[in-house]
Amino acid sequence: MTQDNAQPKDKTPRAFTGDELVVATHNKGKLKELRELFGDKIKTMQSAADFGLESPEETGTTFIENALIKAQYVAKETGKPALADDSGLCISALGGDPGVYAADWAEKPDGTRDFYMAMEKVHAGMGDNPDKKAYFVSCLVLAWPDGHYEAVEGHAHGSITWPPRGDQGFGYDPIFVPEGDTRTYGEMASAEKEKTSHRAIAFEKMMAKCFP
Ligand code: IMP
Repeated sequence: MTQDNAQPKDKTPRAFTGDELVVATHNKGKLKELRELFGDKIKTMQSAADFGLESPEETGTTFIENALIKAQYVAKETGKPALADDSGLCISALGGDPGVYAADWAEKPDGTRDFYMAMEKVHAGMGDNPDKKAYFVSCLVLAWPDGHYEAVEGHAHGSITWPPRGDQGFGYDPIFVPEGDTRTYGEMASAEKEKTSHRAIAFEKMMAKCFP
């Protein structure tokens, strides 16, 4: 992380006081979930795509580094506070992979994404390993145009199942069964997924910190 990204020494969280927030993502699944979580708490919520912005290259090796890259880029380009989610799936039997590279595992040579292919890669990598433990991570960063930012992280623990089940949600949802349930996230309506999801947990922390 560069010095420019260093959290200011002032430890008091900065409150979000405006009406407008830009969500720094092109991922429709994340955008839908974040819009539902915010409900009517924000007057105007737009996405980076609404401003014609491309996604910056995610050159970080941690969730917070990548979330910062996205949030600070969009805040600087739009002049408005921006919220980014960097997330991924960490699988015990794969030594924590795909982790921050969860989206890359779905990337095809033509640049499009195929999550069935990514889930098959997970399945092949796990083989018959009895350790099915996994967790999703969501790191949310809220960045202001002056460079200040606030960051939070949420985890959802569970296990990997095969074959994939359910056509709701996005990404790796069809192979992830959250703790305490027998259904995959792919078999749950978003309101149910939000009861336990990494993004909902991170969102609650962000609300407590910056949306008092
Ligand atoms: P990134 O944050 O843009 O690097 O992408 C994170 C990737 O992690 C997504 O493209 C999904 O593949 C995966 N991911 C993150 N959150 C979820 C989730 O809630 N369900 C399923 N897959 C997810």
